[in-house]
Amino acid sequence: MPRACSEKLVIGNWKMYGNTAENQTRLDALVDKVRTHAGSVKIAVCVPYPYLAQAQTSLRASDIAWGTQDISSQQTGAYTGEVSACMAAEFGSSYTIVGHSERRAYHGETSEIIAMKARQALTAGITPVVCIGETLEEREADMTAKVVSTQLAEILGALSAAEARQIVLAYEPVWAIGTGRTASPAQAQEVHSHIRRHLIQHASELAGTPILYGGSVKAANSTALFSEQDIDGALVGGASLDAAEFAAICTTARQAVEAPNDLHG
Ligand code: PGA
Repeated sequence: MPRACSEKLVIGNWKMYGNTAENQTRLDALVDKVRTHAGSVKIAVCVPYPYLAQAQTSLRASDIAWGTQDISSQQTGAYTGEVSACMAAEFGSSYTIVGHSERRAYHGETSEIIAMKARQALTAGITPVVCIGETLEEREADMTAKVVSTQLAEILGALSAAEARQIVLAYEPVWAIGTGRTASPAQAQEVHSHIRRHLIQHASELAGTPILYGGSVKAANSTALFSEQDIDGALVGGASLDAAEFAAICTTARQAVEAPNDLHG
């Protein structure tokens, strides 16, 4: 059954790039370039922790939200180096990425930890953007659907029905992240519709969960991605560091919502 796509969500993941001066230039340019996007596109940038206050100051009068790239699985306590969801919320964070494949790979994050992080975020009023996706080996072994289903089942199984209703998902094939090798729109759509079916089987009320695509999204490939039925937006890494490129992605997202027929030429 076709879904009415009434809104898209575009989130930038700055990763560990930037400094105060560079960020300011990027944030100011972003505010300037996406001024007219309010309504049909929600936009956010996930910045390194030390720059949350800078993002808050620079973006609070705009329609662009901000957030973090990770969050502690614990509420408070002796967890050296961790940042809690309540701390991020104090700086106005609306989103946090959880379970990014770089966190899974370099920090050994399991689905259990990722679900705990998502719960902490929700408790603090922050929307968790939960990342799932297969490696190249898994795709080549034809295991994509199975891997994604397992990751999803583990996370949904650890969340209450009310919590599950509030998450955003990001399908990020690991082989497409930072490689310049993006999934084709058809490849991405196939996995997104699989994820949608899995969500509906889990609970019909999860049909409207936003599912973002991430992995080498650029303005040039975003038009085709956004015109796929189950792609509700993008999680953008490298291209989010360039304000003009990121704004151009937001523009194609808006066109996909407001004038979808124009995208098909
Ligand atoms: P990329 O990163 O756009 O640079 O591939 C995406 C991500 O890691 O979220």
